[in-house]
Amino acid sequence: MKHIAVYPGSFDPATLGHLGILKRSTKLFDEVHVLVVHNPSKTPLFSSSERLNMIKQSVRELGIDISPIRFASLETGLLADYAEVHGACALIKGFRTVADIEYELPMSQVNSDLSGVETVFMASEPGLGYVSSSLVKEVANLGGDISKYVTQAVATAVKERLDAN
Ligand code: COA
Repeated sequence: MKHIAVYPGSFDPATLGHLGILKRSTKLFDEVHVLVVHNPSKTPLFSSSERLNMIKQSVRELGIDISPIRFASLETGLLADYAEVHGACALIKGFRTVADIEYELPMSQVNSDLSGVETVFMASEPGLGYVSSSLVKEVANLGGDISKYVTQAVATAVKERLDAN
């Protein structure tokens, strides 16, 4: 039986923290769906397809094996339904601090109620526990160097988008 996991998030944009979690999940599951989810409470800098393209480019740039990874987006509907329809047994959630667990725990319980899907929590890599997509955008917006936190592909895309705005 194929073990499939879904790694959901806004990924606006994906950071090296996200990509580390993605890489490690491919060691645990046969197939991992990176799912760019529309979060109505956030105003994204990039469209879903732009975010997916940046993740693809970043996977290639970092030499991560792309063969077990599927790229998809969810504009409406429940994550639990996506998991069920695609035969996924687990959702992957990266956590950076205890605050992330507090935020994620209720969602993991509701997702389990909705479709029985498990949530697998994976600790962020040391050194990336303080990074977030918003911080990356804020630093770039103020002219700072974000190359420690994102791939070259993402750094270029963020700069181009901010320059155009
Ligand atoms: N490295 C760096 N940053 C990380 C990270 C990591 N390993 N893990 C999380 N983050 C950051 C993200 O960059 C993001 O930062 P931002 O707030 O500055 O954008 C923040 O942590 C939150 O990330 P994420 O877990 O992706 O949350 P989200 O709000 O972007 O997405 C969904 C949450 C999409 C998974 C959730 O809303 C969902 O499941 N929606 C689908 C609808 C649904 O089924 N709802 C019912 C849920 S019970």
